[in-house]
Amino acid sequence: MDTLTALHQRFSANHFAADRPVSAEVLEQLIDAARQAPSAFNLQQARFFAVQDLSARQALRAVAYNQAKVEEAPLVIVVLGDLQAHEHFADITHADQIAGIYDQALGDYFVQAAQSTYSNPDRAHDEAIRSGALAAMNLMNAATALGLVTGPMIGFDQAKFKEMFKISDRYLPVIMITIGYNAPGNWPKKTRLPIEKLLVRDGRPNQDHTFSTR
Ligand SMILES: Cc1cc2nc3c(=O)[nH]c(=O)nc-3n(C[C@H](O)[C@H](O)[C@H](O)COP(=O)(O)O)c2cc1C
Repeated sequence: MDTLTALHQRFSANHFAADRPVSAEVLEQLIDAARQAPSAFNLQQARFFAVQDLSARQALRAVAYNQAKVEEAPLVIVVLGDLQAHEHFADITHADQIAGIYDQALGDYFVQAAQSTYSNPDRAHDEAIRSGALAAMNLMNAATALGLVTGPMIGFDQAKFKEMFKISDRYLPVIMITIGYNAPGNWPKKTRLPIEKLLVRDGRPNQDHTFSTR
């Protein structure tokens, strides 16, 4: 399936086929697609916490305000963002240097710039959310292309989730995604605002620009 078709076909699912697990190979493909997302400096903050075991999904459901799909989906992935990615960034710049993408002087500059930027916890937080969200979207589009359906969710108690699964404070929950195969009862994809309400076509400095609200 091409990218545009996947973007248009994706919808948020509530129901998943009970008898169709997601294979280990497909899980690998999903994470491989997710990790292709860009991140600031290539910090790659996104981490993926998969829950598959039924009793674990039942426990997860309890911290997701009892949303049934968390138990019914055969695979749930919580995307996390590493708040300390900048502290280990030299490993990544080293890999990029070995790959011949840039030299050590530029790598050292990136490391210094990333550390000074993201030692500010607010900026590290925002960037973890931003990078995690991009990776999550890649994952959902890849899932659509592979014939799966997905449901993004922020309706869970993040503190309780971290406590239940012993997730360190280093990792910020970004979004939970229920994943499986389609089942009857799902709504189709919802409507979207018209492009005219979303787009400033030709932004110019020192001019007023407004988005239509009607
Ligand atoms: C950040 C985010 C959080 C969401 N949280 C929930 C949730 O907790 N429970 C739920 O049923 N749907 C949740 N959704 C799904 C949205 O309701 C859904 O994407 C939206 O209504 C558009 O539906 P569509 O993707 O099928 O067009 C969430 C979506 C996003 C992007």
